[in-house]
Amino acid sequence: MGFEMKPEKDQCKVKNSNPNSVNSPHIKKKKNKNKNKKTLGRKRSDSQGDEITVVRRLFETCKEVFSNGGPGVIPSQDKIQQLRNILDNMKPEDVGLTQTMPYFRQISAPEHRSSPPITYLHLHQCEQFSIGIFCLPPSGVIPLHNHPGMTVFSKLLFGTMHIKSYDWVVDAPMRDPKTRLAKLKMDSALTAPCNASILYPEDGGNMHRFTAKTACAVLDVLGPPYCNPEGRHCTYFLEFPLDNFSSEEDNVLRGEVEKEGYAWLQERDDNPEDLNVVGALYTGPKVED
Ligand SMILES: [Fe+2]
Repeated sequence: MGFEMKPEKDQCKVKNSNPNSVNSPHIKKKKNKNKNKKTLGRKRSDSQGDEITVVRRLFETCKEVFSNGGPGVIPSQDKIQQLRNILDNMKPEDVGLTQTMPYFRQISAPEHRSSPPITYLHLHQCEQFSIGIFCLPPSGVIPLHNHPGMTVFSKLLFGTMHIKSYDWVVDAPMRDPKTRLAKLKMDSALTAPCNASILYPEDGGNMHRFTAKTACAVLDVLGPPYCNPEGRHCTYFLEFPLDNFSSEEDNVLRGEVEKEGYAWLQERDDNPEDLNVVGALYTGPKVED
């Protein structure tokens, strides 16, 4: 999801990150005052028994799946399936979420904002992967953004969320240095319970926008994570129909592709006004020791 990237300079290098730190590229830097914001009235519910919790199993599987990862590296089908099996069966309670939490309350968007605040719960980030949860109240929007060189697993834990996603059209002429042609991959709603969806560095809908039709929560696993120093910056986009630009070049393009299902995606500033994500402390079952 795209928002003013927030990883601090060397954050992506930290091997054993603090699981309680707040860390999402979608959180604007000016929101740092919220970094240590506590969640309300929720107790830790770590399993102290012999049985491994679902979230711990997720973490251990991610370590294995992304062990030889890197920018543009897609895990093997076996590994993808391994992670998918865990995510497909995950439930809100596995990460200590209930739909009655304050994050999910219906609230109007503040003035000058098109989205009510979305809360990001950071579970883990290391060099190879990151895990986090976006909590969206009804009408919450995570604007159109990309995932450079990443494989991303998204699991809707509850609620109904509309997803619109695109992939770049390879070898198409660029409209201008900041505007490229993209092909629509998905434009529909998902309702939990549902399987995890996966996007890849070059396909599967690498650029996407999430819109909450009801309150919802989505767990994201990114491999590798965003990292500004390594050039994996989260970029936000505006979309324009092909008709929006008229030039001879575009006329040629129109002849080559069906208009429907294609759009121009234009890079935006790092801090889009419609980005409204704040961080909060994850207090669900422990992710790691
Ligand atoms: Fe995303």
